[in-house]
Amino acid sequence: MGPKARVAVYVALLGAAAGQLSTSWAADLEAAKAQFLKSCGTCHTVEKGAPVRQGPNLATAFGRKAGSLEEFPKYSDALKRAGAGGLVWTEDKLDQWITNAGLLVPGATMPYRQADPDKRKLVIEYLKSLTQ
Ligand code: HEC
Repeated sequence: MGPKARVAVYVALLGAAAGQLSTSWAADLEAAKAQFLKSCGTCHTVEKGAPVRQGPNLATAFGRKAGSLEEFPKYSDALKRAGAGGLVWTEDKLDQWITNAGLLVPGATMPYRQADPDKRKLVIEYLKSLTQ
């Protein structure tokens, strides 16, 4: 094989690898979104300006201070205090919150727990993707 042909093969291989990467990334994100809708979608929306459900809109939750959305009127005093005290939604804090909200913030009113770490991870990836 001459040098030109070798370059062509190399470029084709690279292209295939990149294509595979982006396909599996998109598939992961689809799975993450599906898990979010299933686990959290009853109470949380992520579309900007969507009507408020039982819980606050989570479009900007990742990296944001807890209990800090002005358009959500139903935060518990406990969550507002935690936010004022410095609680920010990082991967770690979200994981603890979804595992047991009342353990992370005693007095919080989110009545949902997810014991499966893989499902928590998917949901957190989805929230993260919304802010990037
Ligand atoms: C049955 C309803 C319900 C479900 C299901 C639910 N939540 Fe919540 N969530 C709430 C409520 C109510 C609050 C407000 C809690 C408070 O003020 O103490 C809340 C608050 C939150 C907050 C804090 C947001 C902020 O602005 O500080 C995050 C983050 C959150 N939920 C993530 C999730 C995720 C992720 C899931 C799915 C794995 C989920 N929730 C499932 C009801 C729910």
